Amino acid sequence: MNDKQLVALQAAKYVKSGMLIGLGTGSTANYFIAELARLQRDEGLKVTTVASSTISGQNAQSLNLPIVALEHISSIDLYVDGADEITPEKTLLKGRGSDLVKEKLLAKAAKQFIAVADASKLVSHIGQNFVIPIEVIPFAWQLAKASLEDIGGVGDLRPNAANDGFWITSHGSYVLDMKFDKNLDASALNSLINNTPGVVEHGIFYQLADIVLIADNGAVSELSAY
Ligand code: A5P
Repeated sequence: MNDKQLVALQAAKYVKSGMLIGLGTGSTANYFIAELARLQRDEGLKVTTVASSTISGQNAQSLNLPIVALEHISSIDLYVDGADEITPEKTLLKGRGSDLVKEKLLAKAAKQFIAVADASKLVSHIGQNFVIPIEVIPFAWQLAKASLEDIGGVGDLRPNAANDGFWITSHGSYVLDMKFDKNLDASALNSLINNTPGVVEHGIFYQLADIVLIADNGAVSELSAY
């Protein structure tokens, strides 16, 4: 069993029958979805799910997990998702994919948000290994980019896979992939980007994760913030 699967199975121990559970997106989240389906099939678990992406929703549907649409919910019991970076203060960077709008809505809506990852995701500061994805309204991209440059951002629109156009998220936004001064902490950066007109959402998940589970070479531990 690899570390991503191991940590996903650990998160599944927080699941109880009757819960409404948010499904994250990515390979670690997929292991969690598979475990939910196994628990439903083999142990009579009864849960309802809501997906952060079309791909996770399709995955859950193919495994016969009951799904409700995001627009019909106002809170959920538990959200389990992976991350691209995790700091010691439990700030996450997400959004390498196309689904950070729904991911952040579910992270915020959850009574408990458990982030799951292998140790490769641990960083000392947000933006250490990845650029910060910032979803922008397509017609506002130049204005939003100029505002982000005013606060020290450097970057550009993410190209599409064929490199002949721009990446469009599942929400229909463009993505500005930006780097910022590493001395700008996650709290400040979170506020500055939140206050930028034209920004739909961004990949810094600040003070949203309640529990962070990390698997490292076959052992899972809970990250304790300092
Ligand atoms: C999806 O938009 C991302 O935020 C993922 O949660 C993140 O990339 C983690 O993916 P893996 O679990 O595949 O590493």
